[in-house]
Amino acid sequence: MAEQPLPYSHKTHLKMGLKCTECHTMPGTGEVATFPAETKCMTCHASVKTDSPHILKLTEYAKKKEPVPWVRIYKLPEFVFFSHKVHLKVTDCAKCHGPVADREVMTKEKPIDMNSCMACHDEHKASNECNLCHNPA
Ligand code: HEC
Ligand code: HEC
Ligand code: HEC
Ligand code: HEC
Ligand code: HEC
Repeated sequence: MAEQPLPYSHKTHLKMGLKCTECHTMPGTGEVATFPAETKCMTCHASVKTDSPHILKLTEYAKKKEPVPWVRIYKLPEFVFFSHKVHLKVTDCAKCHGPVADREVMTKEKPIDMNSCMACHDEHKASNECNLCHNPA
């Protein structure tokens, strides 16, 4: 299991009614989901749990305008093209990442290998031509 720089819990935070895309903003063409800006965290943590050593650490990152160095869980090799926005037209986050709102700690609980991509493309009658994912025009 990846050791993260801060013990951030999706379960704790999603219970407060936050939406996935408030933190994972998918700017522009929506290829990347992105990690939240520290200023987003500080909208609450400027006043919430300020005595916690973890929140002090978070505050330091925010002050220095340095991103928290989160350890990546889902990562494709550079030679694979993938767009979040395209896929959110046909499915939801849970299909590829599991029930995140129930998780204290993120693990790679769903596969993102070539077979899993292709199986779903078959199911939806989407193309499985090599160039679709490996050399998009
Ligand atoms: C308050 C902000 C916030 C909200 C809301 C949020 N996340 Fe996250 N998410 C994070 C942070 C911070 C991390 C990095 C730490 C970690 O992996 O737990 C992360 C990591 C992830 C990752 C792992 C990415 C990787 O490859 O390392 C996935 C997948 C993810 N979130 C999906 C979701 C989904 C799905 C939802 C909605 C159900 C959601 N998140 C809501 C802040 C948020
Ligand atoms: C069809 C599958 C699929 C769906 C649906 C999906 N993701 Fe992902 N997600 C991926 C893959 C594949 C990666 C790795 C991408 C890479 O490394 O280029 C990823 C990476 C991420 C990351 C790491 C940062 C990044 O941008 O690469 C976050 C955060 C994340 N997803 C959040 C979400 C959230 C939030 C949703 C729903 C709003 C969602 N994902 C829906 C497959 C999916
Ligand atoms: C909507 C307000 C809100 C936002 C936005 C928010 N948090 Fe929190 N966070 C809380 C609350 C409230 C708690 C305390 C929950 C509890 O202890 O019951 C908490 C707890 C935590 C804790 C545990 C602290 C400890 O020592 O117990 C960490 C770490 C944390 N948040 C990190 C983050 C990060 C990183 C972000 C930005 C990605 C973030 N939070 C965004 C409200 C928020
Ligand atoms: C939920 C089922 C599903 C999964 C899982 C899935 N795809 Fe797709 N994908 C689709 C569908 C359906 C389309 C066609 C969407 C359209 O044409 O609007 C598509 C289209 C695409 C496209 C072409 C559109 C674009 O973005 O240019 C690429 C590239 C792609 N997928 C890559 C991947 C990769 C890489 C993975 C695995 C990491 C993956 N897909 C996993 C259903 C899926
Ligand atoms: C729907 C998306 C998709 C399509 C279509 C696709 N691939 Fe892939 N391919 C991936 C992903 C994701 C990976 C990286 C993860 C993995 O190795 O399984 C990958 C990895 C690979 C690798 C590297 C394997 C390794 O062991 O490092 C080769 C070679 C490859 N693909 C060839 C092909 C060929 C040939 C085709 C056409 C018959 C094809 N791919 C079609 C998504 C796709």
